[in-house]
Amino acid sequence: MSMHAGVVRSFDRSPRYETFDEPDPIGPDQVVVEVLAAGLHPRVRSGASGRHYTSTGSLPMIPGIDGVGRLPDGGKVYFAVDDDTWGSMAERAVVDLRRTVPLPEQADAVKVAAAMNPAMSSWVALRRRVHLEPGQSVLILGATGNAGSMAVQVAKRLGAGPVIGAGRDPQRLAGLAAVGADEVVAITGDGSETAQRLADAAAEVEVVVDYLWGEPASAAMVALLKARADRSRALDWIQIGAVAGPTITLPSVALRSANLRIQGSGQGAVSPAGYRAELPSLVEEIDSGTITVNARAVPLAHVEATWDAPENSGVRTVFTP
Ligand SMILES: NC(=O)c1ccc[n+]([C@@H]2O[C@H](COP(=O)([O-])OP(=O)(O)OC[C@H]3O[C@@H](n4cnc5c(N)ncnc54)[C@H](OP(=O)(O)O)[C@@H]3O)[C@@H](O)[C@H]2O)c1
Repeated sequence: MSMHAGVVRSFDRSPRYETFDEPDPIGPDQVVVEVLAAGLHPRVRSGASGRHYTSTGSLPMIPGIDGVGRLPDGGKVYFAVDDDTWGSMAERAVVDLRRTVPLPEQADAVKVAAAMNPAMSSWVALRRRVHLEPGQSVLILGATGNAGSMAVQVAKRLGAGPVIGAGRDPQRLAGLAAVGADEVVAITGDGSETAQRLADAAAEVEVVVDYLWGEPASAAMVALLKARADRSRALDWIQIGAVAGPTITLPSVALRSANLRIQGSGQGAVSPAGYRAELPSLVEEIDSGTITVNARAVPLAHVEATWDAPENSGVRTVFTP
């Protein structure tokens, strides 16, 4: 049987809407779902370009790491898949039932498909890696994207005290107060001014959730540590995204002169079982509306043109087959 899908045939070309062989389930835990919605997350783009660290390099492939679908028995589910060959940007996908979460029939498929990946980044980090304690203060570095603005809300939902959002887009930065940020810091082209603003606003935070990495994260680390009243008080820095660069420069003294604890959160840092355990509670949060989701639905038939068009990074594109 064949189906329509977004198909990548070369890592330097956008996926095209084509017919493709439908995958067959293998073993008792696998079934075919009718895909209702699949989000175009940054991770999906890096998989489709062969650049993600989990990429096997094999082609052709269908991008898409998750989505909302309908099971053969009619149930609606959120599902996660691997994009090594058959991802979720297709009319149908094979899913492992152990990687699905049941959804209420009235759940908004586009909203859930848009939100799970970005929201999961902070939800899992703050529950499985850093274990945020009630009242702890948090800096979100890169708070203006989908994952960053959800991290503000997730931190508050998990009991954080003051939450400070830092980012470079002034309009979306201003909008963060409406989703719970107590303070915002502008990241501008002037590094020393930015460092001073971060030091003034966030020197005493307990946790940093970092979507930027690169030069802005290096500068922020040094600025925060220098301004800290008691440098032996732990600062948990949790690395999640690298939109500003894949590497940082960190003076060794930063690690000797302060209690800086750097770790990451993502596939590999957290076990598949750890992710599975967190998904149902996050689905509930999203479905019940505690996390604001900005999504736009686009027919999958428009995958190629949409892929190449400039993105409004405050809104997550979701393909509907
Ligand atoms: N580890 C995990 O579990 C996990 C899970 C989900 C996502 N992620 C990662 O988290 C990151 C963000 O994901 P997302 O879904 O939020 O993406 P997104 O919605 O596209 O947002 C990216 C944000 O980064 C900002 N940005 C880009 N370059 C910047 C720079 N040099 N300095 C400051 N801000 C910059 C953009 O702001 P402008 O509008 O100013 O460009 C935008 O607001 C990605 O790297 C993604 O792969 C990790």
